[in-house]
Amino acid sequence: MRKSTRIAFIATTAIAALALAACSGGTGGGDGGGDASAESVEPTTMKLALNQAQTHPSFIALEAFGEDLAEATDGRWNIEVYPDSQLGDQAEYIQSVKDGVIDLAIVSAPQLENVNDDFVVFSLPTVFDSIEHQMSVLSDEEVVGDVYASLEESDSITVVGGLTQGARSVYLKDKIADTPDGLEGKKIRVQESPVFIGMINALGASPTPMAFSEVYTGLQGGVIDGAENNEISYFTQKHYEVAPFFSYTRHLIGADFLIINTDTLESMSDADRAAFDEGWTAAWEQHTELWNSETEKAITGAEEGGATFEEVDSEAFVDALTPLLDEFITSDSQQALYDAIRATAE
Ligand code: GCU
Repeated sequence: MRKSTRIAFIATTAIAALALAACSGGTGGGDGGGDASAESVEPTTMKLALNQAQTHPSFIALEAFGEDLAEATDGRWNIEVYPDSQLGDQAEYIQSVKDGVIDLAIVSAPQLENVNDDFVVFSLPTVFDSIEHQMSVLSDEEVVGDVYASLEESDSITVVGGLTQGARSVYLKDKIADTPDGLEGKKIRVQESPVFIGMINALGASPTPMAFSEVYTGLQGGVIDGAENNEISYFTQKHYEVAPFFSYTRHLIGADFLIINTDTLESMSDADRAAFDEGWTAAWEQHTELWNSETEKAITGAEEGGATFEEVDSEAFVDALTPLLDEFITSDSQQALYDAIRATAE
């Protein structure tokens, strides 16, 4: 079992905390007071909504997270991952987590942008230099602590942390786009967010906001001419079957976030919360490790299915998108977050 030594240590710590609580007559977890009494804590299975397939690194890492958490909390906390948009689309996840209908979800940065526009900063081109830079930022409490906690009062949502989406590139049904000119007049699916709409407009194409789960049929039926994503989603969602021309525009490195209902999180005892945090850290580390190897597999798989991947004039795409920084950084808090991220770059 992954990280078994560390998890064993956490489990031991949790058991010690339980024993202590029992000796001191603690009334138990579930009230967030830091006590943890085995008798009074009912096992909780948290629902986690995911729009990716079971072969995607997010599913693999989150399943392992659930196993680690159950083991470390002696079964008090479990996670059931619902992949393939079974619980709806990301735009609905935010409301469902807020209402406590589901406990956890993976949502893309542009979805959170619709709740707090500081999140726009995570989707700007050139904000991250590399996946390594991105992941060090997304796990740096100093840089992201405030924005991750910003929805707790208003929406009962806590952002636990981030996962990389890797570099996103454009793919079309009919041709490689060597420069932004190649996208002229093309209807390109975007995530439902102002910054993604602005991005496709800046490239001279026509943005069509659409849920992730609808992209395949949108491409197949010709409602859209193309989309943009990383190689892994391109492959695991089978978009290559209907849009086989993948142009390496690498216009930005995307971010996903794990969100949780704040009341659920706060109902964990201190020891269980520590196990949750440890399990999450192991999950995003595993996800980051898997990213490169799964990307290679996705490219091979899509090529075998008839897709073409081509290097294009990615600088021309980055140049076309640079004005977005001025267009979308409009508040002091966005500027402060952007500056804090850039200050961590090499
Ligand atoms: C990526 C990302 C998802 C997102 C999707 C999209 O696959 O990981 O969270 O929903 O892009 O384009 O909608």
